[in-house]
Amino acid sequence: MIITVTLNPAIDKTGYVDAIRPRSLNRLRNVQIDAGGKGVNVSAMIRALGGESIAVGFAGGGAGEELLSRIAQKGLRADFVRIAAVTRTNLKVVDNDGALTELNEPGPAIQATEWREMENKLSGYGVQGNIVALSGSLPAGVGADTYKRLSALLRRVGAAVFLDADGEAFKLALENGPDAVPDYVKPNRFELLQYFDVADDDSVSDAKLADLCRSLLDKGVKLVALSMGGDGAIFVNKNGVWRAPGLSVQARSTVGAGDGMTGALVYGFANALTDEQCFALALAASAGACTTEGTNPPKRALVDELLEQTRIERIA
Ligand SMILES: Nc1ncnc2c1ncn2[C@@H]1O[C@H](COP(=O)(O)OP(=O)(O)OP(=O)(O)O)[C@@H](O)[C@H]1O
Ligand SMILES: [Mg+2]
Repeated sequence: MIITVTLNPAIDKTGYVDAIRPRSLNRLRNVQIDAGGKGVNVSAMIRALGGESIAVGFAGGGAGEELLSRIAQKGLRADFVRIAAVTRTNLKVVDNDGALTELNEPGPAIQATEWREMENKLSGYGVQGNIVALSGSLPAGVGADTYKRLSALLRRVGAAVFLDADGEAFKLALENGPDAVPDYVKPNRFELLQYFDVADDDSVSDAKLADLCRSLLDKGVKLVALSMGGDGAIFVNKNGVWRAPGLSVQARSTVGAGDGMTGALVYGFANALTDEQCFALALAASAGACTTEGTNPPKRALVDELLEQTRIERIA
């Protein structure tokens, strides 16, 4: 079973403008409201590919009810902890070039009893053979070491852990010893370079990026999927390094492309695809996710079409 966890979910509002102008009035058109939250996006991709998952998270207030009803409308199974505070609403603005501006709320604070309920739920799901994908920012009221602790808890009971997080939460989760670190991580280029405190300039070659990914393997991580937007991805595990150039698609919204990649990888692992099949699916699915509005996943048929165009080269 696949469990996706969104500790700081949101109602996502995506609006479109010709060009975004800071410090002035921007009138949005085609405003689309969506169940947001990275784990929810991961679950949506898994479903689009033909798989099943349970989306876990926190929901509160009217926005929380809206979130749960939209998750249900997507045909996703959910098992959320109800909280006293109100779920946040995040605003995404896409301009005619497909470029994205995001205005994200911090989100509600989680109370101690609500957190205990979440930990109990996740302990229950953390059984041998399950894959638990932890995605996104942490809510207020929980420590920066939350993913570190959850990863240790889930691995101890035999679940595989996929982490897509950044900053301190990501850093701490990797300082956990080889038996407790996440099994799989999916930083984007910015997040990886930030982790290693490396400036992003032209000297950062694919070989250099692969080296940085390899040093995460030394910590006990089994796979690093490094996503690089339209430039594709690099996949590093103990067997080698693979480079997949980005697919050429008509991008409508790149929101959640990384979550689409996570969803495809988890789906691939759960269905025992080979490494290269998983990587190709991740690339095709995430590129497909860019062609839809908001965070909507692509149709499986489009993913299959893009799979035909996906080229993955082993570079080490
Ligand atoms: N413009 C694009 N054209 C083609 N593929 C894209 C494009 N943008 C993203 N992708 C695909 O989606 C993958 C993930 O994108 P990206 O690196 O932007 O993730 P991310 O920054 O983690 O996104 P998010 O956190 O918003 O979900 C890329 O590796 C690539 O396969
Ligand atoms: Mg991301």
